[in-house]
Amino acid sequence: MEQSAQRRVPIESQRVDAPLTSSAVLLTLTLTDPAAGSEAVRIVRGVLADLEDITKNVAFRDLDAALACTVGIGSDVWDAVTGAARPAELHPFREVVGAVHTAPSTPGDLFVHIRANRRDLCFELERQLLDRLHGAVLVTDETVGFRYFDARDLLGFVDGTANPVGDALPAATLVDASDPAADPAAHGGSYLVAQKYVHSLAAWNRMSVEQQEAVIGRTKLDNIELADASASEQKSHKTLSTITDDDGVEHDILRDNMPFGSPGHGEFGTYFIGYTARLWVIERMLERMFLGDPPGKHDRLLDASTALTGGVFFVPPAGLLAGLGD
Ligand code: HEM
Repeated sequence: MEQSAQRRVPIESQRVDAPLTSSAVLLTLTLTDPAAGSEAVRIVRGVLADLEDITKNVAFRDLDAALACTVGIGSDVWDAVTGAARPAELHPFREVVGAVHTAPSTPGDLFVHIRANRRDLCFELERQLLDRLHGAVLVTDETVGFRYFDARDLLGFVDGTANPVGDALPAATLVDASDPAADPAAHGGSYLVAQKYVHSLAAWNRMSVEQQEAVIGRTKLDNIELADASASEQKSHKTLSTITDDDGVEHDILRDNMPFGSPGHGEFGTYFIGYTARLWVIERMLERMFLGDPPGKHDRLLDASTALTGGVFFVPPAGLLAGLGD
């Protein structure tokens, strides 16, 4: 029997490690009135307190579809919405302005990441959440993502291979309560960075497959990792997004990138979603991609990919949300 078929209960909300699925909805919301104690804040707190139940209502109707929902809260509304201590690294997305490409910072108070193996379950959960949030939020971005062949992005490369597995997954994504040095305000939660990229497939396809492979750092057909470029050559995306600290420790993140698009509107994109226990790790990846290493040698993935949005959120553990009700 498949593991999912053995599941007797839905996936708890706020499970960052929920399985990668074939469908997703990425919602960015702003509060209509972010002042502490406002009616909008009261509604949002009520919905977040009920998130587990609302998600269960939809998820239970097909447990094999692995419906999961995580909500991240932005820096500007953290205090008003949660009333809890602030996670130490939580701050608005820091724009990265490179010589050629920019990672912009765009508005967003809440980020809702809905995943399932059925498009209709994602739709239904989004519908129920927005129904309850009516009047309290504005939708600044709604993107529907889909799995493309064998987990490929629309550039044709398998995307997500290097994600951590096993014990390395919680270590990379969750602020660890057992670590005395870990920020107590962030225990059990995860930082989330979201960026919506659109691709110029024309620009990408002007490159040969060999050039594309050098840009990504893997072969296209069979996804084999290439050796790092020599010191005199430009680094690949894989190398620029590998982060090692001063002690030589490599820091992974969890990516749940989703392709999205509409050929009829000429839209082809990748929604980057990164979960991390240490926000600085993703920030350093972005600096290396946009500023380049050495400076000026930016990630050539960006010559065919434009970041339209950028947001930082903190995904608190489910228990914190459950406590937000009246
Ligand atoms: C246009 C958007 C993007 C696309 C199409 C893309 C695509 C890819 C692909 C195809 C790989 C190689 C396979 C894999 O290990 O998953 C990869 C690796 C990776 N990407 Fe991206 N990526 C994008 C943006 C980003 C951003 C914004 C970040 C971080 C800020 C990032 C971080 C990473 C990391 C950490 C790896 C794994 C490196 C390794 O350890 O081998 N990516 N990406």
